[in-house]
Amino acid sequence: MNSAIVSLKPEISADDFDAEKIRADFPILKLKIDGKPLVYLDNAASSQMPQQVIDRLVRYQTTQHANINRAVHYLSEVATMEYHNARCKLQQFVNAREDREIIFTSGTTDSINLVMHGYGRKFIKAGDEIILTTLEHHSNIVPWQMLANEKGAKIRVVPINDKGDLEVDEYEKLFNERTKFVGLIHVSNALGTINPIKHMIDFAHQHGIPVLIDGAQAAQHIIIDVQALDCDFYAFSAHKLCGPTGVGILYGKAALLESMQPFKGGGDMIASVTFEETLYNTIPHKFEAGTPPIAAAIGFGAAVDYLAAIGIERIAAYELSLLNYATERLNDIPGVKIIGTAAEKTAVISFTIDGIHPHDIGTILNQDGIAVRTGHHCAQPVMQHFNVPATSRASFAFYNKKTEVDALVAGIKNVQKVFL
Ligand code: ALA
Repeated sequence: MNSAIVSLKPEISADDFDAEKIRADFPILKLKIDGKPLVYLDNAASSQMPQQVIDRLVRYQTTQHANINRAVHYLSEVATMEYHNARCKLQQFVNAREDREIIFTSGTTDSINLVMHGYGRKFIKAGDEIILTTLEHHSNIVPWQMLANEKGAKIRVVPINDKGDLEVDEYEKLFNERTKFVGLIHVSNALGTINPIKHMIDFAHQHGIPVLIDGAQAAQHIIIDVQALDCDFYAFSAHKLCGPTGVGILYGKAALLESMQPFKGGGDMIASVTFEETLYNTIPHKFEAGTPPIAAAIGFGAAVDYLAAIGIERIAAYELSLLNYATERLNDIPGVKIIGTAAEKTAVISFTIDGIHPHDIGTILNQDGIAVRTGHHCAQPVMQHFNVPATSRASFAFYNKKTEVDALVAGIKNVQKVFL
């Protein structure tokens, strides 16, 4: 059973979800590409922005903008308060205990790099081991490799099976006295697999090991409760949750954040500076050097308000109905192979077509106005496991509809006609 459904209340169903009404909020969905209606199925790369968030950005820029935490004038005080309100909205969205546990970053990659520099460079030593999984996005591999190379530490990798599920037994066997850190992707961007992170966090904690969750592909589909998960760090970006690019958050437990060294030095992250010594500010400011993405953070707050008003559980139920429909329809096309068939998935379908390169698939689908992502999805170890250089990936959002799945199916058949 899909965990998106497991977490749903019995009364939550996809039946009363009015995608047509929701689409009216998204001006970009009215676009035509070469005269064909846009069918936007690249939501795992970036989702689209509703008018409500666009309006919030315009209101900020036209009536509230100034730099924050620096001046006593009216606009600076308004902008400071709105930026703080955005932090509180994100705190509420992930159910963090305190607002100072939410750090605004430039996105998931920046959040992970913050943990690598702030925690990893301080606490990981030669001979230590860091556990990652085969499903990780490069953003949760490369920083840890850089750290391992610098410190003489070692990366241990949890394997996956041919459905794209993590081998959780193997994960448990990787723990030993040298294990010092675990980095886990919540939902695979390449396959859509939802990982059993609660169990994996609990297991790591039994060994006293902190866990970072890369939630870039999860927070828009699954209710995130960092207190219930008890994760030590959780990271995601606004632009995959109908918000702007250039902003994301790192949630971290306050005590851990306090124990860490800063990632970036500069204005606002200090309590005092002399040429002899700098004393750092308290969290979250210690990790927000320089002028932060003020407008984008406020837009992020509006985006999570928008999603919360619809309800993440309703979104999950509707997206699951799209996933099931699309899986059935694609499975019916000879020559199409779905890569990643885990029982617990978000609405992501990676696929190959016999005899046709994924880039050619993407190019021909684009001529029909259909946007999918093709390539290795910044998850080359996943591609290596399935022995493919790349896949085509259709990733759905709550504003997609079944007729767009039908358009994808027709588009794929057209690709086969062109190339086979
Ligand atoms: N990580 C994003 C994706 O999966 C960009 O497409």
